[in-house]
Amino acid sequence: TGCFTYDPGFTATASCKSAITYIDGDAGVLLYRGYPIEQLAEKSSFLEVAYLLMNGELPTPAEFSAFEHEVTHHTMMHERLKNFFQGFQYDAHPMAMLAGTTASLSAFYHDTLDLEDPEQRRLAAIRLLAKMPTLAAAAYRYSIGWPIRFPRNNLDYVNRFLHMMFEVPSEPLEMNPVVAKALDLLFILHADHEQNASTSTVRLVGSTGANPYASVAAGITALWGPAHGGANEAVLKMLAEIGTPDKVDAAVARAKDKNDSFRLMGFGHRVYKNFDPRAKIIREMTHKVLGELGVNDPLLDVALKLEEAALKDDYFVQRKLYPNVDFYSGIIYKALKIPTEMFTVMFAIGRTAGWVAHWLEQQEDPENKIGRPRQIYTGSASRDYVDADKR
Ligand code: CMC
Repeated sequence: TGCFTYDPGFTATASCKSAITYIDGDAGVLLYRGYPIEQLAEKSSFLEVAYLLMNGELPTPAEFSAFEHEVTHHTMMHERLKNFFQGFQYDAHPMAMLAGTTASLSAFYHDTLDLEDPEQRRLAAIRLLAKMPTLAAAAYRYSIGWPIRFPRNNLDYVNRFLHMMFEVPSEPLEMNPVVAKALDLLFILHADHEQNASTSTVRLVGSTGANPYASVAAGITALWGPAHGGANEAVLKMLAEIGTPDKVDAAVARAKDKNDSFRLMGFGHRVYKNFDPRAKIIREMTHKVLGELGVNDPLLDVALKLEEAALKDDYFVQRKLYPNVDFYSGIIYKALKIPTEMFTVMFAIGRTAGWVAHWLEQQEDPENKIGRPRQIYTGSASRDYVDADKR
């Protein structure tokens, strides 16, 4: 009973009003605060994009340097937070560690828990943006048994992260500008995507008045699934399993088989029924980055063949299934020597900018109320309890 609109998966329900990101899925358009993703990818930086998403406008040089200074100032994690890592199994997935330690931030930073105070909200958002790469790199180093590194605050956002990931005392880390630029660009492309599953999760948790660290930790867990951010890890595993271009047709046939649960990972999107504009940028970038780094990855040949085969196959054409952002990103991460288990963590670092922007917007929204969907009940009608000996 009940007269509710039944909309499983929320394919036709707008859950909020937002001025952050615009998507036209039929035309393949993506705008952050009105700026086309292509222009931001070419001209901006991840930190500038984070400022734009959070504040609504591009920063002046003075605003940017104040923002960068503030983010840099908050990169360190509390020394006792490191004890959390010791509690994880040595081979824990870094996403598990990232979600757990992000939630734990609320236990350390009590000066940002008064949600009525706009300055505390802003500071919490800055802390999340600043500390996410620190937590991410710590998760990686813990998983391989290396000591956790301090953030080097004389470096920029991306190089600081690379340093925390890969630096060993004996050999100073060579900072490769091609690697840093590629990573920065990937963070820009992942920074926001309106009401995707993880951002909707952040908002749903945020709607209850829970603190921002708890809300973003919930977003991280939603991102983890292979239908969402976990797809980049799944794509690389799939390409490795396919192995060679001559096995591509068999994989496409499997993906079309309705009795087989196998899907082409990195293909299809709830909103894009055309090329994902981020995938177009990443595709071009893959060739460039692999060329510049002198990497010859046979998986790229498998990916190109797979894309070509799927795009001319009726099954994929009729359903408007195109490569999405995750299809090529894994190949680039691999070329940048980011381990496969860290791919979704990379996505989380970039998406943190969007999560905190949405959380800030929601807190200021006078129409915000607790998210509380209804259901169509399909269970038993009212009945009497049966004693155990009579069942
Ligand atoms: N391979 C084979 N068939 C597919 C695929 C695929 N990757 N994606 C969708 N389909 C089919 C699906 O079986 C269905 O067919 P039919 O109408 O005959 O039942 C039709 O296309 C529509 O699919 P859907 O599952 O109803 O669409 P959705 O909007 O619920 O799902 C999706 C979107 C992204 C979860 C889905 O396309 C998918 O599972 N893709 C693979 C995972 C992936 O790449 N995810 C990353 C998404 S982009 C970045 C992000 O959000 O993190």
